[in-house]
Amino acid sequence: MCGIVGILGKDEAAPILLKALRQLEYRGYDSAGIATIDEGRLRRRRAEGKLANLSESLARDPVAGKTGIGHTRWATHGKPSEENAHPHQVGPVSIVHNGIIENYRELRAELTSAGSTFQTETDTEAVAQLCARFLRDGLSPVDAATKTVDRLRGSYALCFLFEGEEDLIVGACHGSALVIGHGVGEMFVASDTLALATRTNRVSYLEDGDIAIVTRVGVTVLDSKRKQADRPRRIASVDASTTDKGHFRHYMLKEIHEQPTLLARSFEHYSKSIQLIGDKQADRIDYSIVDRIVLSGCGTAFYACLVARYWFERLAGIPVDLDLASEFRYREPPLSDRSIAFFVSQSGETADTLSALRYAKKTVSKTVAVVNVEESSLARESDVVLSILAGREISVASTKAFACQMATLVWQAIDAGRQRNTLEADGFREIVMALQFLPGLVSQVLDLESRIAVISREFATSSGALFIGRGMMFPIALEGALKLKELSYIHAEGYAGGELKHGPISLVDEKMPVVVIAPTDSLFEKTYSNMQEVLARGGKTLLITDSTGAAMSDIGCWHTLVLPEVHPVLAPILYTIPVQLLAYHTAATKGTDVDQPRNLAKSVTVE
Ligand code: G6P
Repeated sequence: MCGIVGILGKDEAAPILLKALRQLEYRGYDSAGIATIDEGRLRRRRAEGKLANLSESLARDPVAGKTGIGHTRWATHGKPSEENAHPHQVGPVSIVHNGIIENYRELRAELTSAGSTFQTETDTEAVAQLCARFLRDGLSPVDAATKTVDRLRGSYALCFLFEGEEDLIVGACHGSALVIGHGVGEMFVASDTLALATRTNRVSYLEDGDIAIVTRVGVTVLDSKRKQADRPRRIASVDASTTDKGHFRHYMLKEIHEQPTLLARSFEHYSKSIQLIGDKQADRIDYSIVDRIVLSGCGTAFYACLVARYWFERLAGIPVDLDLASEFRYREPPLSDRSIAFFVSQSGETADTLSALRYAKKTVSKTVAVVNVEESSLARESDVVLSILAGREISVASTKAFACQMATLVWQAIDAGRQRNTLEADGFREIVMALQFLPGLVSQVLDLESRIAVISREFATSSGALFIGRGMMFPIALEGALKLKELSYIHAEGYAGGELKHGPISLVDEKMPVVVIAPTDSLFEKTYSNMQEVLARGGKTLLITDSTGAAMSDIGCWHTLVLPEVHPVLAPILYTIPVQLLAYHTAATKGTDVDQPRNLAKSVTVE
């Protein structure tokens, strides 16, 4: 359940809803649907699968009406079928929902015993059934929606549309974001500002527990105590430009190739804001009295946290607490009030990461959002926002955002090291200079693409793969395995090199490729030994190293990719590029849906 939008417009709603849903598709693409009001009657179209299917269905069988709601789904309760697609309609009410209604079983049982017949497997239908019951009891639409919301537990952003009410949408949210868009003679409700960007940039954000009564002339907000509340308007700065793929076959490949430019942009920005010692920059953090750092995120963003742990510990001598956002909050770790907590997220809308932030906020001295979307919920709720400056990332699998997250975090670690005198001025300058040269090195790695494409064709025939790395290369091994499995559906696992002998080595045979990520750092010889262990058991290895490493390991690797020499601190960023290309070309060879792999969403807005 993922992206929602509502429109009280001047023009036909269906095309505007489709445009908005296109911007929300990053939240899920299992099904999509819209409902409008035409001559007082609710009209609905839904389709299983991507938005394109809904578009086709609307082209064949259009719906009229200037008021409407829309939804793009990532299935939680109930399979991704047309029947389970939103909007859910019961009698005179139609609703769209993002989140999970935790007490839906209880509501379903209560409503069923009172005579309601459920049509779908979803948690959301309970909301529509409950509201319909209150309407049947004679409540007004606003009162029925309010009374319904008051019965819900869990997380939700909701829009209610009512038959006969062409000038009303009721919005409600708890634990999931909802934004109101103020147009000229038209009003909007949506999961995020991106959905509204082509119509308005004047927005107000609802707070937890709010109910919004929206008409074409404005909005009345009731807070969680149902008192009228003021939610200030702001101007949103969102980039909704429909970027095209240029000459690339997929967005993912385009985004991989954008990395040199983006790393140069990141250097430009952070070299100014961090090197101006003593200058009070908005995003400059004081690390002098910090006793711990907390790092958390999900998926690829979590791997950026894993890399950053090495940096903060090694360069700044600060102990790091690190956990997956989905575990962090329920582990309930004791936190120090002298710690700084970093939450890393491309979208800034990932539900688990937001929950982790809300948990940490109660104790830590500062929360920092490391985000790509500066208007996101995570950014709005954090004390400091560090933008990763990656531009819009469209492909579901994160590539450029990962590199830019790491680039942003390494600046923090070296800044912390300077502030705490754990990093000498010379060491600091060396890393800064290496950061300046990094975009050029990344371009050189991109030049290896045709070679990687050839290797990938062989990779595509495998049924499994292992990735190993030590130290800062361990997170890159995890990322390489994640990218490969999510894109090509080949089972892959990332391991710390030293762990190979504790289990995964039993998988090694002549058919299982093992990707060994090993620049010639202080751990090279150890990783080299792990590679020998694989070779001794007839395994085939793809070694990713530099020219020194390649010269030292002339021993029958299946393939060796030679990367340029790089400052060891920045090696994780450079060594990410070949594993991205490997995953991309393997998936492209297999013909999978590279930009929108099955079952995934770019941002998962439910726990
Ligand atoms: C999803 C995406 C991943 C992403 C993760 C975290 O699983 O498919 O690519 O790394 O969410 O997303 P975030 O927006 O918080 O970085």
